[in-house]
Amino acid sequence: MTCSFTKPLGLIAAMSVAVALSTSGAFADSGGATFSQGDKFSEKDGASLFANVCAACHLDKGQGAVGAGHYPALAKNENLESGGYPVTVVLHGLNGMPPVGQMMSDDQVAAVVNYVRTNFGNNYKDAVTAQDVKDAR
Ligand code: HEC
Repeated sequence: MTCSFTKPLGLIAAMSVAVALSTSGAFADSGGATFSQGDKFSEKDGASLFANVCAACHLDKGQGAVGAGHYPALAKNENLESGGYPVTVVLHGLNGMPPVGQMMSDDQVAAVVNYVRTNFGNNYKDAVTAQDVKDAR
């Protein structure tokens, strides 16, 4: 059980994700965190993708949250310095984080990663490309 949805804060976050996913038709089973690979998010730009996908857990300014669950801040996060790292996390998940990138195109993953890496106090200008994402899948 690597998912932290059972904890109170995680539950709220999971519900937000469930809403986001059900509106995009991607939630196969609303009773569990089932991410089906065929379905895609429809947002195209990084800001919208962040607001609709990532902010549910990492909060609206990427500030993260620590309570019953731990959602690391993406704001001022030096782990984002190497673009390959967030690409890998988004594509493959990390412990309590589901692999949301499986429901995004290469362009969408690149857009949201580049958005996070150039906002919220992060200033990493070496943008990742759709090809980088493709290679990391
Ligand atoms: C369902 C909740 C959830 C969603 C949605 C989510 N994350 Fe996460 N994310 C987490 C959790 C929990 C962790 C911490 C995992 C760990 O370290 O155990 C994490 C970790 C990360 C990390 C690693 C941070 C570090 O310092 O190592 C990055 C980068 C990240 N998320 C980016 C994103 C992006 C970008 C999105 C949107 C495309 C996103 N996350 C969506 C829950 C989520």
